[in-house]
Amino acid sequence: MDATLIRTINRLQDAFSTVGVHNPVDLPQIVVIGSQSSGKSSVLENIVGRDFLPRGSGIVTRRPLVLQLINRPAAASTSDDGDKGKSTTSHTKKGDENEKKEPEEWGEFLHQPGVKYTDFNLIREEIVRDTEAKTGKNAGISPLPINLRIYSPHVLTLTLVDLPGLTKLPVGDQPKDIEKQIRDMIVKYITKPNSIILAVTAANVDLANSDGLRLARDVDPEGARTIGVLTKVDLMDAGTDVVDILAGRVIPLRLGYVPVVNRGQRDIDTKKSINKSLEGERAFFENHAAYKSKAQYCGTPYLARKLNMILMHHIRNTLPEIKAKIQAALAKYVAELATLGDGMAEGAGQANIVLNIITEFCTEFRTIIDGNSTDLSSF
Ligand code: GDP
Ligand code: NA
Ligand code: MG
Repeated sequence: MDATLIRTINRLQDAFSTVGVHNPVDLPQIVVIGSQSSGKSSVLENIVGRDFLPRGSGIVTRRPLVLQLINRPAAASTSDDGDKGKSTTSHTKKGDENEKKEPEEWGEFLHQPGVKYTDFNLIREEIVRDTEAKTGKNAGISPLPINLRIYSPHVLTLTLVDLPGLTKLPVGDQPKDIEKQIRDMIVKYITKPNSIILAVTAANVDLANSDGLRLARDVDPEGARTIGVLTKVDLMDAGTDVVDILAGRVIPLRLGYVPVVNRGQRDIDTKKSINKSLEGERAFFENHAAYKSKAQYCGTPYLARKLNMILMHHIRNTLPEIKAKIQAALAKYVAELATLGDGMAEGAGQANIVLNIITEFCTEFRTIIDGNSTDLSSF
């Protein structure tokens, strides 16, 4: 996630917590949908910038993964949660000697409270293990979510949801109504008005058959919160490209489409790093005859910027309401202080200073995003 946005939100959260309002901005959750093996988990991983999800051919994601990213300043603060008394096991290579030192980034599962994962490969293994434990080793699916939190100074406090892919035909001993089961599961997540839908479609299949787009349209007919993501652009037949889709000539989407190139199965098997993969993606779009003139609107970094922009707009739209709430609370506070007499006058002055900071911040924030809001629809 974009460092400026992270800083901005943190300042906002700090300003509000000064007056006792916690998490004033209800950030949207980002939900990734599409057909099985279209590249949903790969897209999500690239957005987070860490390797930790099981990916592969066939039905790999078999339960919803509700991933909460939690921003946490690098300097360890130990007073923010009440689990100090609990014993904490650390899944680090060095083991016990590290226990005292707070790691900078770690993951923690809801089903294993207190267990801190600093090795992200072990997070992937635990997702696989718990999926198998709850749904069996075959292709069964379950609506029971896996809840994972990632604490890091480099993320925005935000929820991302990875979902099983839509399939048409049951395989192995999957139930006959598997398609409906998965569909119901997805609809539950994307119906929420504060979810941003990333409708993932592989570029080497016909867009008209995109399950993700079809489902997104059912819950978001105006296309106000759906972004089209085209994966596997590198696997298209020579001489074909997605330019018509990007230009809105096939199935137009208000927020547009972003083409990306994720790691292929061989890259995963050879453990190609995310950074190497992003370099390769950039080179692909910059050198491709069909995309090079628009390369800045292609690839994962652009998708991340687009998401940031949507988040900024969401925050801007929530600010007036938050400000009004604070103003009302403050008026009440000042009135209460007045009834307490002279000794309290100083407190009222301090409260007003806080309000001024927030007002200043709101204005500044609006200026920043108004100056930046032009690239929401590219192509
Ligand atoms: P999901 O089932 O939708 O979550 O898809 P995954 O992220 O697990 O990816 C399915 C397979 O497609 C994996 O083998 C990925 O390596 C591969 N894949 C995903 N995106 C791309 C891409 O952009 N290009 C290539 N070549 N392979 C991709
Ligand atoms: Na898959
Ligand atoms: Mg997946």
